[in-house]
Parts: sequence; C-alpha cells; structure tokens
Amino acid sequence: MEFYLPVKHWHMAFAYLSATLFMLRLALDVAGKPGWRNSKWRRLPHINDTLLLTMAFTLLAIGPWQPFAHQWLGFKILLLIGYILFGIMALKPTLSAVVRSVTAILALLQLAGIFYLATFKPILFS
Ligand code: HEM
Repeated sequence: MEFYLPVKHWHMAFAYLSATLFMLRLALDVAGKPGWRNSKWRRLPHINDTLLLTMAFTLLAIGPWQPFAHQWLGFKILLLIGYILFGIMALKPTLSAVVRSVTAILALLQLAGIFYLATFKPILFS
C-alpha cells in the first residue's frame, strides 16, 4: 500500500496527458493538419495510454477498489471501452467528417464522464 499514492499520482498524470493528446490530435485534424500521423511523435499517445492503463491495473491490484463492488469504477471501465472505440473512429481519416465529428463528441463526453466518476466516485444505484 505504501506505493498506492505515487502510483495514483502517475495514473492521474498519464490521464491528463492522455486527454490533452487526444484533444490535440482532434484539433490538428479540425485545423486541416493531419500530418501528425507521420510525425515522430505519433507513438507518444499509445505509449502514454499503455502506461495509464498499467498504472490503473496496478491500483486495482494494490488498492481497495473492485469494479463489481464499487459502481464508479465499474462504470468508469464501461465508459473507457466506449471512449476507446469512439476515439479510434474520431481519428480515422477514412471515415466521413460527420461520423468523425459525432464520434469525437461522444468520445469527449465519455472522457468527461470518466474524470467525473474518478473524482467524485458517486453512488449511482443504491
Ligand atoms: C481514460 C482512462 C482513465 C482516466 C482518464 C482516469 C482518470 C483518473 C483520475 C483523474 C483519477 C484520480 C481521481 C481523484 O482522486 O481525484 C483516477 C483514479 C483512479 N483510477 Fe482512473 N482513469 C482512467 C482509467 C482507469 C481504469 C481503466 C481503471 C481500472 C481498471 C482505473 C482505476 C482507477 C483507480 C483505482 C483510481 C484511484 C481512486 C482513488 O484512490 O481515489 N482508471 N483515474
């Protein structure tokens, strides 16, 4: 447990960077600059997200939280799956602008939900 807080802080840092990098890539696409896909930085989001999830599962392993016992965590994982799927579609250049715009909004809403659940840990159904 002595490592719990440092791991949580790394998880949070990777989470904020993940959100920033997702929004940055969306903004570059909206600005008509899809060249980031060929940049030397293109792997950074994947490396960051791998570290984010590694820290997340480490927190589960060493902390008191369980996805089926703590609703906020169970729903957070469900939202994460949606965020990943819609996020992939939002950044896919072969899809139409309408589909990418709608999936980008849905992905951002789910990302906001993830941050809300993580921060406030509400009891959704009693
Ligand atoms: C995009 C993905 C994710 C984001 C943006 C995210 C974000 C966050 C944030 C901001 C916190 C800190 C909340 C606070 O105390 O203020 C947090 C905590 C936590 N997250 Fe995540 N998270 C993500 C994925 C996951 C996943 C997949 C899991 C589990 C498999 C997970 C498990 C946890 C746990 C156990 C905590 C610690 C709760 C506590 O001790 O207060 N997270 N997350």
